Amino acid sequence: MSISASGQFPETRMRRSRRTPALRRLVAETTLSSGDFIYPVFVLDGKARTEPVPSMPGIKRQSIDVLLPELTEAHALGIPAVALFPVIDADRKSLDGSECANPDGLVQRAVRAIKKALPDIAVMTDVALDPYTTHGQDGIIDDSGYVLNDVTVAMLVKQTLSHAAAGADIVAPSDMKFASAFYGPFRDAVGSAKNLAGGDKSTYQVAPSNGDEALREVALDLQEGADFVMVKPALPYLDIVRRVKDTYQVPTFAYQVSGEYAMLKAAAANGWLDERATVLEALLGIKRAGANAILTYFAVEAARWLSEEN
Ligand code: PBG
Repeated sequence: MSISASGQFPETRMRRSRRTPALRRLVAETTLSSGDFIYPVFVLDGKARTEPVPSMPGIKRQSIDVLLPELTEAHALGIPAVALFPVIDADRKSLDGSECANPDGLVQRAVRAIKKALPDIAVMTDVALDPYTTHGQDGIIDDSGYVLNDVTVAMLVKQTLSHAAAGADIVAPSDMKFASAFYGPFRDAVGSAKNLAGGDKSTYQVAPSNGDEALREVALDLQEGADFVMVKPALPYLDIVRRVKDTYQVPTFAYQVSGEYAMLKAAAANGWLDERATVLEALLGIKRAGANAILTYFAVEAARWLSEEN
């Protein structure tokens, strides 16, 4: 026990460094910037097309020509990367999803158009079959509906090569993240929810109960040559973000998924939460957990808020 010069106890008062905005800034352990964000967009075929996604207020599906000016703005705000998710017309979907590897498919054309207009923005593509299959599964199924591993992998390889040939900077395989119910609004957005019709993905996605198993998946991904890993969803899985970061010390991204977006938007729309404050707090929390970058539907809004703060 010690008594300070003023005779007050205790000597350490945690509030001293919280007294003014300047002191609070000095001791900030984590900061957010627009450079942390990957901006996901839903791409439609055709021209001059925009459709709202009802379960994701503020998010639209857009044709490439409408998307380009928006990405120009995102780039100007300092967002380094965009992630593309295609909305495939029903007549291009099939049992085996082979449209995914069409060198002139929607994603491949979008990649080329974006790299041409904005060569500095990194383009990430989603490697998965769910937008392309008539049954909405991420892979090729047998008669019982079971996703067949090796034929699926062969198709995913073709898809990946077509993305790389089109100029994608990052290919992001997404068949085996957590089996989460927070993906619901995304499945509405890409139009796979109806096709999936209650079918679930738990024979290939990781059970939400299993952190050790998720770490084994990451170990395998790294062994197979992955440069980055991504934890998805983000907020309910921050323990996984931290464990992955601490265990492997590789660039670790987190995906704040559609359901996380929808929850915050719905609460804000009802006046129950302060949108700006809660969104920035959620993003900061994801970074504090160890994420190097965050894939978030709030990317543009958050980048704008951050630019107003400084
Ligand atoms: C699947 C894929 C999913 C998301 C992106 N790619 C999940 C799924 O339907 O299983 C979800 C992203 C989100 O919810 O924002 N290939």
